[in-house]
Amino acid sequence: MKNIVYIFVFSIFLSLTSCSDNRSPNYQFMPNMYESVGYEAYSEGELFLNGQSSRLPAQGSVPRGHTPYDFEDTNEDRERAKAELKNPLPVTEENLAAGKELYGYFCAVCHGDKGDGKGILAQREKFLGIPSYADPGRVINEGGIYHVQMYGLNAMGAFTPQTTPEERWQITMHVLNLKAELEGTQKLVPVSEAEAATAQEEVTASENEQIEE
Ligand code: HEC
Repeated sequence: MKNIVYIFVFSIFLSLTSCSDNRSPNYQFMPNMYESVGYEAYSEGELFLNGQSSRLPAQGSVPRGHTPYDFEDTNEDRERAKAELKNPLPVTEENLAAGKELYGYFCAVCHGDKGDGKGILAQREKFLGIPSYADPGRVINEGGIYHVQMYGLNAMGAFTPQTTPEERWQITMHVLNLKAELEGTQKLVPVSEAEAATAQEEVTASENEQIEE
């Protein structure tokens, strides 16, 4: 009797396993566990007429944390940036120190530690025409220094992938100081800690405003 039960159980096991075909997907129990009922991002779907499950953001949408930049990569807008664009960060010891460090990573190879255009790549003649920040033929001011980091200029590349807007302004302050040093003029004067705190609050408030708008 016992044997008959064993044979019965074994034959059920065989009948369940023997027919499976490894080359085709197996039967899915509870398919919802494998295939989401909700639409996958960017998958096909019937929600919209173009057959996609999601839509592009509305025109003019600004991603969170993104700072819009209103100047194009043209000669006119470079001039406009020089005339209109102002540093929103307070001049603090911290920002100046950060700018000096970042300048060392990104700019000194070409422009030199002193900003005289004699970096190591200039000395080795890898890049030609690197100007000194004291070049009298150029208008080098805060807006222009920021702008050239946004888009680059001829042999100089842009620095937008490597640096954040805040870092670019910190670098800008350091460049202004190098220029002042070369020309023997007044360097940026760091504000007191209390003033810096208020100014920083203003920057943060205006950034939050931009995000909420
Ligand atoms: C690969 C070498 C190279 C690097 C790295 C580089 N520059 Fe330049 N930079 C140049 C050259 C070349 C020019 C001159 C471009 C021209 O006028 O044709 C220039 C021009 C400039 C100018 C003058 C722009 C104007 O309006 O006349 C500024 C300011 C400047 N660079 C700042 C920077 C800063 C800040 C960094 C680092 C974030 C940097 N550069 C990194 C090569 C470089």
